[in-house]
Amino acid sequence: MQISVLDTAQDVADQAAGLLIAQVENKPDSVLGLATGRTMEAVYQAVVARAAHRFGHARSFNLDEYVGLAPSNTASFHHYMTTHFLMHLSPSMINATIPDGQAQDLDAEARAYEHSIESAGGIDFQLLGIGVNGHIGFNEPGTPFSSKTRVETLAHATRRANAPQFASPTDVPTHALTMGIGTILGARKCVLLATGGQKAAAVARMVEGAASTDCPASCLQLHADAHVILDKAAAGALRRPV
Ligand code: GLP
Repeated sequence: MQISVLDTAQDVADQAAGLLIAQVENKPDSVLGLATGRTMEAVYQAVVARAAHRFGHARSFNLDEYVGLAPSNTASFHHYMTTHFLMHLSPSMINATIPDGQAQDLDAEARAYEHSIESAGGIDFQLLGIGVNGHIGFNEPGTPFSSKTRVETLAHATRRANAPQFASPTDVPTHALTMGIGTILGARKCVLLATGGQKAAAVARMVEGAASTDCPASCLQLHADAHVILDKAAAGALRRPV
C-alpha cells in the first residue's frame, strides 16, 4: 500500500484527478471503476475542469447503487454521476454503467454486472472512498474478501452517515447493490481517498490494523498496486509517520 498525506482535501482531489487523467492519457480505452460520495465531488470537478475531452473512449463501472431508487431520485448514485461527471464530458459521453437498483431480479442484475466487468477486460483503475466503519463500495464489515457483486444490507452507521442526502433519515434505503471486495481486488490499480477527521479511525484500521473483514478497506493491504491518498485530518490517527 502506497500512502500519501497531503495538506488539504483539495490537494487530495487534485492528486486523484491527476492520476485518473494520466490513466486515460496512457490508455484512452481504460476501464474505470468509479465511486460516489462527498469526497469524490472535488475529484470530478477537477477532472472536468482539466480534461473532460479525454474520456471519449473510456468505459466505466460504478461501485454501487441503492436498491429501490430511480435514476431520477436526487439521492441515487445514477443522479450523482450524471450531475457531477457524465453530463460535463465531451465530445462523446463516457460509456458508463451503474448497477440498476430497481432491477426486478437483483441477484441476476448482480451476476450480469460482474459478467459485464469481466467482458470489458476487468477494471484498470478503481477509485474508492471509505466509510466511517471502513466499508468500501457498500461492502460492510464482515464481508468476505472473495465476495462479488451482490445485494448488501446497509449498516446503521452507513445509513446515518448518508442520511444528509435524503429528505428524512427514514428515507435512506436499507439495501444496496455493490461490487464485492473480490471484484474490487480484481482491479489492476486501486486509488482510495479519505479526507476529514471523521475518517481518521477507519483509515488507521485500514493501514495499521490486520487485514481483516472487520475493516473491509484493509483488504487493500493484499493488493499489489494500491495507493491511499489522505489529507492531514484523515491521517490524524496513524501511529507511524508516513
Ligand atoms: C458511500 C459509498 C462509498 C463511499 C462512502 C464515503 O457509502 N457507498 O463508496 O466511499 O460513502 O462517502 P463520503 O465521501 O461521502 O464520505
